[in-house]
Amino acid sequence: MKLRYKIVNTVLAIIGVAIVSLALVLSHNSACEHAPQISGTSALMQAIVYRCYGSPEVLNLEEIEKPTPGPGEVLVKVQAASVNPLDWHYMRGSPYFMRLSSGIGAPSDHSLGADFAGTVEAIGGEVTQFQPGDEVFGGRSGAFGEYILVREAGAITLKPASVTFAEAAAVPIAGVSALQALRDKGQVAPGMKVLVNGASGGVGTFAVQIAKALGAQVTGVCSERNTELVRSLGADHVIDYRQQDYTKSDERYDVIIDNVGNHSPAQNRRALVPGGKLVMVGGPSGNWAGPLINPLKALLLSPFVDQEFILFLAELNQQDLAYLGELMASGQVTAVIDRRYPLAQVPDAIRYSEEGRARGKIIIDVD
Ligand SMILES: NC(=O)c1ccc[n+]([C@@H]2O[C@H](COP(=O)([O-])OP(=O)(O)OC[C@H]3O[C@@H](n4cnc5c(N)ncnc54)[C@H](OP(=O)(O)O)[C@@H]3O)[C@@H](O)[C@H]2O)c1
Repeated sequence: MKLRYKIVNTVLAIIGVAIVSLALVLSHNSACEHAPQISGTSALMQAIVYRCYGSPEVLNLEEIEKPTPGPGEVLVKVQAASVNPLDWHYMRGSPYFMRLSSGIGAPSDHSLGADFAGTVEAIGGEVTQFQPGDEVFGGRSGAFGEYILVREAGAITLKPASVTFAEAAAVPIAGVSALQALRDKGQVAPGMKVLVNGASGGVGTFAVQIAKALGAQVTGVCSERNTELVRSLGADHVIDYRQQDYTKSDERYDVIIDNVGNHSPAQNRRALVPGGKLVMVGGPSGNWAGPLINPLKALLLSPFVDQEFILFLAELNQQDLAYLGELMASGQVTAVIDRRYPLAQVPDAIRYSEEGRARGKIIIDVD
């Protein structure tokens, strides 16, 4: 064999071994560790803890140390939290590539939950924006616990008095995702035709209402049992996806907010006007390449079409939370609440979320 081929074969073999090794390392689930001993003098709180990746059985309600706020930090007594698909992605460490940041083999952060609403219990030095007794809501890892520490400059804002803790807890990830997908990525303006695929879920129920608040003509896609709900949120048209495939109709939209990812970018393109935008919020689950397939197809197709395919990642921030709070206080946006669970039943709440059939948001009553 010529030297050139030997070198190429060797390099390919090394790359192959490296990929297989990385795949084995990323997909490996370490055994669950035991809870560490807590010193007798520590103040305690209850929280959902997971020490290994897996199904909801890995989630336990434990007594852990109650945190104290340091400089620039706010300690919030959590009254309500809400569940997002993100929570079970963290719980399972899936897709596996996310373990590069969440922890290889086992989670590096043992707390779960992101959306919270509660009351400020204490503040650290240098905090000027909040004081004990303030009612707040926001996003921070560890929301499935009695107390949470949040940076003053982080994703936390005052809760309007007219909005309940459960309603406020429904907002952060789903509401901010809907807002940023429509306003920042879709650049939705009055009169535009917007289609929301997955209109009855957490993101979708906010997206329909926010798109209406932005002055759009809204079409919601959901199953038959949710058509009334989506219409009641303001959708001008509702498509039952079991009866009609929106990518095969003659209707064209300026913006599609896709919370489901069940159509390829090429199929979605058929339902967009020239220059229209597909904002890819959600996609199929899967441990390996499943979630990457639509983004990859979009990347390949992009240079050849005049529609825009936008891969979306929400960024929680105070300004957008405050804006959503105002929309809630003015009645333009309401939180659709499906089921409510006590803190001890977070595993059941996550099981329900994993079914992918939630109508609006799933709330955890923490207090
Ligand atoms: N990129 C980001 O930053 C970001 C942020 C937030 C969420 N996400 C992702 O966005 C997706 C949606 O999140 P979510 O919180 O809205 O989830 P969710 O609340 O669990 O969504 C459930 C809803 O999806 C609907 N649905 C299921 N299959 C459908 C289909 N084929 N066509 C239309 N609707 C369908 C269900 O309605 P039926 O029961 O009627 O079918 C249900 O109401 C998830 O994949 C999530 O991970 C991404």
